This record gives sequence, C-alpha cells and structure tokens, in this order.
Amino acid sequence: MGVAAKNKKKAQQPLKPMNEFVSELMGKMTVQEKIGQLNLLPSGDIQTGISENSSVSEAIRQGRLGAILNLKGVDNILKVQKMAVEESRLGIPLIFGMDVIHGYETIFPIPLAQACSWDIPAIEQSARIAAQEATADGLCWTYSPMVDISVDPRWGRVAEGAGEDPFLGSRIAEAMVRGYQGDLSRRDQIMACLKHYALYGGSEAGRDYNTVDMSRIRMYNQYFPPYKAAVEAGVGSVMSSFNTVDYVPATANRWLLTDMLRQQWKFDGFVVTDYGAINEMINHGLGDQQQVAALALKAGTDMDMCSEAFTATLEKSLEEGKVTMADIDQACRRILEAKYKLGLFADPYRYCDKSRRATDIYTAEHRQAARNLAAETFVLLKNDNVLPLKKQGTIALIGPLADTKNNIPGTWAPTATYQYPTLREGMQRALQGQATLLYAQGCNICRDSVLQADGSFYRTIPRGDDAQMRLQALETARQADVIVCAMGELQEMSGESSSRSNLELFDVQRELLDELLRLGKPLVLLNFAGRPTILSWEQQHVPAILNVWFAGSETGDAVCDVLFGDKSPSGKLTMSMPQNMGQIPVYYNHLNTGRPVEENTQKFAKFQSNYLDVRNEPLYPFGYGLSYTTFQYSDVTLSSDQMKIDGTITASVTIKNTGHYDADEVVQLYIRDVVGSISRPVKELKGFQRIHLNAGESRTVTFKITSDLLKFYDYHLNDVIEPGDFDIMIGPNSRDVKKKRVSVLAFSAGS
Ligand code: BGC
Repeated sequence: MGVAAKNKKKAQQPLKPMNEFVSELMGKMTVQEKIGQLNLLPSGDIQTGISENSSVSEAIRQGRLGAILNLKGVDNILKVQKMAVEESRLGIPLIFGMDVIHGYETIFPIPLAQACSWDIPAIEQSARIAAQEATADGLCWTYSPMVDISVDPRWGRVAEGAGEDPFLGSRIAEAMVRGYQGDLSRRDQIMACLKHYALYGGSEAGRDYNTVDMSRIRMYNQYFPPYKAAVEAGVGSVMSSFNTVDYVPATANRWLLTDMLRQQWKFDGFVVTDYGAINEMINHGLGDQQQVAALALKAGTDMDMCSEAFTATLEKSLEEGKVTMADIDQACRRILEAKYKLGLFADPYRYCDKSRRATDIYTAEHRQAARNLAAETFVLLKNDNVLPLKKQGTIALIGPLADTKNNIPGTWAPTATYQYPTLREGMQRALQGQATLLYAQGCNICRDSVLQADGSFYRTIPRGDDAQMRLQALETARQADVIVCAMGELQEMSGESSSRSNLELFDVQRELLDELLRLGKPLVLLNFAGRPTILSWEQQHVPAILNVWFAGSETGDAVCDVLFGDKSPSGKLTMSMPQNMGQIPVYYNHLNTGRPVEENTQKFAKFQSNYLDVRNEPLYPFGYGLSYTTFQYSDVTLSSDQMKIDGTITASVTIKNTGHYDADEVVQLYIRDVVGSISRPVKELKGFQRIHLNAGESRTVTFKITSDLLKFYDYHLNDVIEPGDFDIMIGPNSRDVKKKRVSVLAFSAGS
C-alpha cells in the first residue's frame, strides 16, 4: 500500500509536520524515484486521458513521474491518480496541472483585457472562480498568472499579461495569486505558477521565443516588480522562461533562479521549466542533453516540463559527478513539499470529488461575475455621439467575428466548452424583439496571402468569396438605421507563437468598413483583439470604436450591456496603442532623453528625439478610455508641498460626473522623480482608484504618497529614495494629468 493510501486509511491521525514527513519519505526513495518526482509529462490527449499501457502509465507505475499536465476531467484524473497511488511502489500522488489562464469553463476576458478593468477585486474573484471550477474537475495546479511586462504589441503573448506597467502588473499578480491559492487549505483552491520568469516579454522585435537583452536597471525597475510581487504574495511555483537572460537561458540561469528568486526574494516553492525548455538549451548552444539538464538542475530548476531530460540523464550525471545527490534531493524535496501543501499526502483524491462538477462549474453566479468583469474591460476609444445604441429600428450586425462561437473565449482557454453564445445571439436576446437585427459576415478574416500559416489556421470562420460577401453586407446595411461591425483578429492570432508584424485591421475588413462608412449611417466598430491594434485610419474615419478584446464566455451579453447603455464603458488601456508600426515600442514610462520633444507642442523639430513622419505620442495613451459620461477633474491638492524622507503626504482631486450617465471612472496617480542619480521615467503609475459616480455627483479621491512609492533601483541596484523634487500627477489617463510638485527632504521624521 502506498504512502498516500496509508495516510488516507489513518485519516484520523494528522500527518507529521512537513519537514519530518518529507524526510521520512525521501529516506525510502531510490535515486530513480527521486528523479521521477522532477518529471512532468503531458497527458497525450487532453480529453481522453492516458491509456493503461502507454509510456506515461509505465512511468507512473515505476514512480518516474511527479506531475501531469493537460488532462481534463475528474474521471480521467481520478483514474490516473489511482494508478499512481495504488500501483507505484511508494504510492506518491501526482500533481495535475493545466493552463487555466482566464477561467476554466466559465471563461473570463483574456488577461490583457482584465487588466484594462483596473478592478483588482474582480480580477481576484476571477482567479478564485477559476480555481473553484478547475479543482471541481480534478486539477490542483494552474500555469498562471503570467506577469511578463511587455511594450511590444507584435508579441502575441501580450494577450496573456497585464500590459506595460510594473505597478499595475504587480497589483494584478498579487491578486491572482491570492485568488487562486488563498492559503491552499481548501480543496477549491489551486496552486498558482508564476510565469514566465523572467523577461519573456522583452523578446526582440516582438518575435516569440526570441532573444532578450536588457540592462539590470531596466530589469529591476520595470520587468521584475510583478514577479517579485507574486513571490511575496506566496506563489507556490514559478515557471522559468524560454529566453536568455544575460545570454544564459533562464532555465540554466543560476543568478535568476537562485540568487534573485530564492535568496533575495525568499521564494520557497518549486521551479518548473517551460515546455521543453531544457532540451531547447541544446539549440541555444549550451551543450548536449546531459550537459543542459545538469546546468538546469544546478541553476535551481526543480521540475522538467516535457523534455524528459532529467529522467534521461541525471543518474549518469550523478555517477560522473556533474550533479550531486544534494542537488537532486533539494529539487525532490521542494516538489514533495508542494504535494504536502496541496494536501495530497493527506488525501490524494482531495480534488476528485465527482459531485462538484455539477455544482461548481459554469454556474449562473460565475457567469454573472464573468459578464460583469467583461463589461468593465471594454475600452471606448472614440464616440461621436453614436453610442450607446437605442433598442429600436433596424440594426445591421456585420463582420467575420459577429457570429462565431469559435472566437468567443480567447487565446489560452483549453478547457473552454465552446457552447457560449455568439455576439449575434447575445444581441438577439438583448433586443427582445424591440429592434430588428440583420446580419451579414461581410468578408473573410483576411486574405490568404496575409498569413504564412495554411488555410487550417482560420478554419474557425466560414470562408467565402470576399466580393460576394461584401455585396451582401452592403445590401444588408442599406436596410438598417445603424451598423455594428464586429471585426479584428481571430483569437488564435494572439497568444503563444502568434507574433504579427502588421497590427492594422486586415485589408479585407478595412475595405468593407470603408464601403459601409460611405453609406453615411451611424457606425460602431467593435474591435476584437488580443493586443493593441493600430487604428489610425479608423480613428480618422469611424465615428465610434469600442475595443472589446476577447471577453470570454459571456461576450455576447457583456457587449450588449455596454452597446445599449445598461453600463457605461469604463476600461482603460494598459498598453499604449501606437499610431503606426514604426513607433513600436511606444510606452508611457519612458525616459526623457537629452533632446525631448517640447511637451506642450509635441511638434517636430530638427535635432529633437522624434520622427520625420509621425509624432512621438501613441494614438491612444496608457490609461486611456472614454465613457458615455464626462468627468471633470479639479486641480491636485497636496497635504503639504514638502515630505520628509520617511514621511507621508496625501494628494487629492475632486472628480465630477458632468454628463448624463452614471458611470465608473479609473482615477490614476503618476509621479515623476525630477532629478535623480540616474535618469528617471517621465511618469510612473503609483496608484489608481476605480470609483462610481452617478450623473452630477462629485467625489474627492485621495492618494496616500509614502516613501515606498518614490523608491527605485539605482545604478548599484540598491532600492533607494533620493531626496529632491517629485511631480505628483493625477488624471483620467497618463496624458491628461494635473500636476503639483513636492520636495522630499533629506532628513527623517525624527531629526
Ligand atoms: C507555454 C506556457 C505554458 C506551457 C504548458 C508553453 O508552451 O509557454 O505558458 O504554461 O506551454 O502548456
């Protein structure tokens, strides 16, 4: 009888304390079994599971597997867990992991969209719900949150992160860890995995898996904070990234995995590689499989995801003295500790309560939470009195994304069920016969020649003849009072391995839009995207643009909530949206340079840091997003214009809802360290509050400014606050701020 089964039998007796328990267990393990714990394999087929006599089953029985990824369904998981517990020598239970990134079967908006809500409690709740649903179906580990900062929208994986800002990214990282894990004491909580550590979002030219190279100062100040925040929030595991950091792949980078992560940040969970990352180090040019596996282990990697490099080589490396027993023991202990914390030794079937599927998944309550959050993520980019629409007359819904179930969930929803209503179905329901809804697809998603991928790539949308579809769409639109266009990219065009070098609307869609606009009717563009789109032409020609990202299972209803004015849009961009491709990367927290563009004029001048053919600012700045109402911001009031170095001041503004709609607003606080020992960004987000104001209502919003908010990593990578002047800025986005200056004084409160 295995260890877990024995423990279950004596369920009345509590387990020994973790250290003692794990030491005793390790005392019984062979070297092969210890190395087996470091091995993570895919299930083969996410839906059908693992057959009795596959190589994975063999590995389980021989105790040569520690965890499995991508096995869906409590029945499948229960069967495989039984195999581990009842058929392997020591009966050590497996960990079951999956990419539960933005929901399990109730799908929330993609992470980039969620970030645009700036609604931390709602984001935390989305993770809690995802944990509840995933554990109700047998899982206990998710590869989320992904907290990679990125300023390059060509990189498709920006869809999975929070955008370009380290402060907001950190708050979201903490919230997600809290939401997933809680304290891991309950069976509806799940172990989180922070990824991709580190700097994956810095890949050159936005090409996935590409080289990353950046200064330590930028790492510390801009890219590390969300990872650190998640570690401090107690994340249970960390995934190393595919890329190099300082020319050493993250998976073999001891400075990253041990010095920073464990020694500086005090991480005490385990490190898993990204998929096949150990073997990829052969391509990175670091040696053969034995060599790279040893490097990975020595650097601080504990679990090998899908390279099978540890199981293939570590015994040999041990014999040859390339790794030590202590190296293997350390990694094995960390994984067994995670199993202990997950309660798997106390009860290996803790997450296998079959009755929960019926009560805990895709519930009305979860769907309502997803719908609410989705509506908060939409960013109104432009509105020339078109929105909200009235439920009357005839509405033409046109575009390749208007009636597709396949593009509803968004990238990274492997557990989605694809039963969710389309936008067209949502609109039909919302209108309840009060208006006539007409529909035409209008065009293909793009021309065949646009993508390198073959036709199967866009199999998810019916393909037809563009010219014919356009004629039909124009015919349909002529009969309508207002046109709603559902356009953009497919969900698979963002996310992993989905870099793009042109982020404008595809030609066929733009051409159709152009013709529809010529009908002279009110028109709104709903832009579906997993990244910032370049919308300069649309900004010039289209009267209303609502960016809806990929909003998850409740897209159809949530879009209608905003489209028809039950809710005012309140999302604010967390990545700048460029004017054109050549501007990339364009982000708000840049340095001033020695030759900045005159702030007020933004005009081109020779020998300034600018382009001949486009202004420096993005089309829509970080933090930007309109509402159906208008908000008026007062000047900033500071509690004092001096602050002691260890002191606190407050900064306040009064905001008035001067329009006719009740609405939410995200009030944003930025600072600028005017003079520093190193050059400092022109603005840095340091606070935000999401408030609700009824039409006509005013509220004073106050931010506490502590010295912690003014700190940064200096040239020597010390975390410092330097006395001197700071600009305190508050506004509705990073561009339109009101400003006051405060002097931080060198002496402390006590002096
Ligand atoms: C991705 C990770 C993911 C892993 C497991 C990799 O290709 O980079 O984000 O968690 O696969 O599915």
